[in-house]
Amino acid sequence: MKITVDLAPVEETLLVPLWARAEEATRSDAVLRDPRAGGIRARLDYDFGPLASAQASQLGCCVRGRLMDSWLCAHLALHPGCTVVDLGCGLDGRFERADDGRTRWIDMDLPAVIDLRRRFFRDTGRRTMLAGSVLDEGWMDAVAEAAAAGPILFVTEGMLPYLQADEVRTLLVRLADRFPGSTLLFDAMSPLVVRHQRHHDAMRHFEASFTWGLDDLADLEAWDPRIQLEETQRFHDLLRRYPQRLPRLVRWFGRVAGAVYPPFKRAYTLNRARLG
Ligand SMILES: C[S@@+](CC[C@H](N)C(=O)[O-])C[C@H]1O[C@@H](n2cnc3c(N)ncnc32)[C@H](O)[C@@H]1O
Repeated sequence: MKITVDLAPVEETLLVPLWARAEEATRSDAVLRDPRAGGIRARLDYDFGPLASAQASQLGCCVRGRLMDSWLCAHLALHPGCTVVDLGCGLDGRFERADDGRTRWIDMDLPAVIDLRRRFFRDTGRRTMLAGSVLDEGWMDAVAEAAAAGPILFVTEGMLPYLQADEVRTLLVRLADRFPGSTLLFDAMSPLVVRHQRHHDAMRHFEASFTWGLDDLADLEAWDPRIQLEETQRFHDLLRRYPQRLPRLVRWFGRVAGAVYPPFKRAYTLNRARLG
């Protein structure tokens, strides 16, 4: 029997990257292989039909996940056994893709999402699910209690754009306060994307809205000098590595928009930062 999906609008957005990873798993030239996504998608009582035309988002979610995974695996190679916390994890099978056999792993999301997630994933000795909002503070105590000694790697993919700017700021400052020396992998969009989100090939089918956009990533360091950006990759450049995977119109639009309006090229970025 299929599982009913009863999620609030912002929670429902997790179905986009899940769908994207499930589609990707059917390709011989997959940019990301998630061993769980296809099986999970098949169990959900949900109409993914409207997403069929969202080819750019489908590739985009996988390109984003691939870079985050590669940063995360590089970090684990340098810090074997360190703790990883995936904030706004949705139904991602990142642990299955990146586990080094030693890491302590915490997947966190809102309670309804964790309830759904528990239908597919189990806690183990090294892996825990945590239900709550990143906007509360209590979860940080739970993380501090469960974490191995040493700096933590926080990864968040597709969640921060649904928060308000002051909420993102409070979250980052609290992370720097509570977990100095930790690393944060995150995505950030410019206000340009927020303004034009109803043209987004996937978001136009969803009720939730992006709310956080940042003109200049340097503003993060101005928020708090402990937020130190170590690497930024422009999504525009990452997608262009797979021209054959993008519809011709999207390719043409990306080229023209980037040429006539250079800020378009940094409209969405993936970032690695050190906190404190
Ligand atoms: C676009 S989905 C991304 C899911 C997952 N990271 C992935 O890539 O498959 C956004 C996720 O952020 C979660 N989220 C949004 N606001 C949150 C909050 N305040 N606290 C925890 N999770 C939140 C949603 O429930 C959802 O699972």
